[in-house]
Amino acid sequence: MREPTRYRVIVCRGPECGERRGSAALYAELERQIELNGLAGRVELDWQSCFGRCQSGPNIMVREASEHDAGPARFTVLLPTNTGEAVLYNAVRIEELGRILRDHVVGGRPIRAMMGRKPPGFD
Ligand code: FES
Repeated sequence: MREPTRYRVIVCRGPECGERRGSAALYAELERQIELNGLAGRVELDWQSCFGRCQSGPNIMVREASEHDAGPARFTVLLPTNTGEAVLYNAVRIEELGRILRDHVVGGRPIRAMMGRKPPGFD
């Protein structure tokens, strides 16, 4: 039987996403939900200093984990391409984190409605 896909969930904690839009709370809630739902074996949670999409923050990237992922993601250059391999969710709200884990990480279905969004006031 095939092993379930492991995902890397990377929260941006740069100045816009983190300091202005509170992504530290998203990270903490993801940690809590991953533990609560027994997903620690399926998810590698990490943070990155900026995805270069600051006006769309807070941003969370979800992509398949790789054997080349040794070390923290913040030292890796990541391109937010929404290619199916790496999806960047924008303007993420705390109440949407369960859906990211349920639909994308467990179900393998990226959530189109959460891509390409801007936070209120940036439309
Ligand atoms: S601060 Fe989050 S994308 Fe730049």
